[in-house]
Amino acid sequence: MASLLDVRGLTKHFPVSRTLREVARGERPVVRAVEDVTFAMDQGESVGILGESGCGKTTTGRLLLKLVEASEGTITLDGYDVRALKGPDLKRFRRHAQLVFQNPFDALNPRFTLRRSIAEPLLNAGVPKGEWDDRIAAVLKRVHLSGVSDLMEKFPHQLSGGQLQRVVLARALILEPTFIVADEPVSMLDVSVRAGILNVMREVRETMGLTAIYISHDLALVRYVAPRTIVMYLGKIVEDGPTDAVISRPLHPYARALVAAVPVPRVDQDRGALPITGMIPDARNPPSGCRFRDRCPYAVARCAEEVPALRELAPGHRAACHLL
Ligand SMILES: Nc1ncnc2c1ncn2[C@@H]1O[C@H](COP(=O)(O)OP(=O)(O)OP(=O)(O)O)[C@@H](O)[C@H]1O
Ligand SMILES: [Mg+2]
Repeated sequence: MASLLDVRGLTKHFPVSRTLREVARGERPVVRAVEDVTFAMDQGESVGILGESGCGKTTTGRLLLKLVEASEGTITLDGYDVRALKGPDLKRFRRHAQLVFQNPFDALNPRFTLRRSIAEPLLNAGVPKGEWDDRIAAVLKRVHLSGVSDLMEKFPHQLSGGQLQRVVLARALILEPTFIVADEPVSMLDVSVRAGILNVMREVRETMGLTAIYISHDLALVRYVAPRTIVMYLGKIVEDGPTDAVISRPLHPYARALVAAVPVPRVDQDRGALPITGMIPDARNPPSGCRFRDRCPYAVARCAEEVPALRELAPGHRAACHLL
């Protein structure tokens, strides 16, 4: 079966402002936010993208949704070349591929009633007004909000954080997308309401057959929602495999350190990893070869000379390390 999403060599370099010295030398510095990212996803699959702040998770998600333009690489979604989409094809893509925002106030205008915010995508997509009420009622049911009276006439500040995040989800789902990217979808919420939202997300994903990417720096969240995990470090995929295997048998030294740093319930074996030391290097000047090498306790000379390829080391489990 062909993959729903196929990403090859995806790269994003953001130009950054130049120092006087760089201007004098004619240099054009860039932030290497995403570098040579390659993976595929099947229809209905859920993948978590995990990594520290600044490793390129959000940029990857935005590239996939064509919210930022890639510098290099290809993205194929449902047979379409995403980078080349325009006109009616781009409009169709925008209906089928949705972003779930982290901060409800990025998605909802505080001065609009919830009805207006939820209906806005219908308006933009040209859905006839006669269908709106039914579509809104159906989507509110999906996110378990149909019992809240007068909800649609309220304003965002009148809702609790958990209700608001359900409204954001409803807005993302109202056009019945097939692919969603949820970027830190519950990081603004109290722990007590997180599980409720994640359950709703899991339920809608299953009933709607959605293909979903969950972006998070939180291993416990990824474990809860995604059977497959991609670990990124400084713009690159270092590991990609079944979530259980990534947690219980992480392969890459970075993934091992990341997993060891977080107590994961019911996973208690000694993973033999050393803690990561030092800071994440500057994405303007990443280390040569393996980007993790200057924080890696096992680095050898080859790690500075050659970029390690992402290789399949166990069924469905890839890692990029010369020492594996
Ligand atoms: N518009 C931009 N212009 C310049 N640099 C950018 C831009 N957007 C992101 N970056 C840089 O690209 C790198 C990756 O950023 P990104 O936001 O994708 O990381 P992230 O993994 O989502 O981090 P976080 O966990 O903090 O959300 C960072 O070094 C960031 O500073
Ligand atoms: Mg981010």
